Amino acid sequence: MSNETANRRAAMPTVANPILERRTVENSNRNLLKHLQPGLAVLDVGCGSGAITRGIAERVGPQGRVLGIDPGETLIADAQRHTAEVPQLAFQQADLFNFETDERFDMVTCARVLQWLNRPEEALVRMKNLLKPGGILAVLDYNHERIEWSPEPPAAMQTFYAAFLKWRQDAGFNNAIADHLRDLFERNGLEEVTVETQFEISRKEDAGFSVASRIWAEVAEIRGPQLVRDGYISEEERLRAIEEYDQWIATTGESMQLYLLAVEGRMSQP
Ligand SMILES: C[S@@+](CC[C@H](N)C(=O)[O-])C[C@H]1O[C@@H](n2cnc3c(N)ncnc32)[C@H](O)[C@@H]1O
Repeated sequence: MSNETANRRAAMPTVANPILERRTVENSNRNLLKHLQPGLAVLDVGCGSGAITRGIAERVGPQGRVLGIDPGETLIADAQRHTAEVPQLAFQQADLFNFETDERFDMVTCARVLQWLNRPEEALVRMKNLLKPGGILAVLDYNHERIEWSPEPPAAMQTFYAAFLKWRQDAGFNNAIADHLRDLFERNGLEEVTVETQFEISRKEDAGFSVASRIWAEVAEIRGPQLVRDGYISEEERLRAIEEYDQWIATTGESMQLYLLAVEGRMSQP
């Protein structure tokens, strides 16, 4: 399918998105913590409403510099509301594929974004070219095919999830991108490549189980209308998926695990 279809499907709906705002660098991008120190210049590609980006800015301090870019106008407007009191933090509405700057960064981070791009390798090369020599590229992403629920979620949610993956795949997005990142990094000359599992596990006994596992009901609420418009499921199927999945969470649902890998590599020194 065309770049236009990919861009349309990747665009974040403008309704309130609690998923992005629940995230912090500590709970959702902890692979970055070992690198973050005062004075670093960091670019956060696909920063959404900037929840993780704000945590990065706190850690690099006023001697540092953090720029978040995202094509979502509403997301960037939300993100910018927090910048006045943090001088080292800035946001810019920009698409990675058109983003131009003379600035070079100690670290470029990109979390949960390559899963939404139909040209992930081109994106990776662009990010690599924004690094200073010796700088670090840190990508965090999913393999949606390796999600684990226990027990299996209701049939209506399985139907929705299968439609979601098909809808994504038809737009050229790689549902298993996490497991291709090491190859992409090595093939494009990044050095000292490391791969760390960063699975997100929620269990019934955890206080946050009902909120964390509900991500798929939220996807059906927030993204689902796009799938209905594009003819992948009916509105009845979408609503049934939400209702039956909410029941599963409240009754038989025991655990859910999202498969995420954090892959990092270094730009060579001259
Ligand atoms: C799932 S959100 C992840 C947000 C945040 N990084 C996080 O981990 O919570 C994916 C983000 O990628 C952004 N995105 C999609 N296409 C992009 C592109 N071509 N360039 C930069 N960002 C893009 C979307 O607007 C969205 O905010």
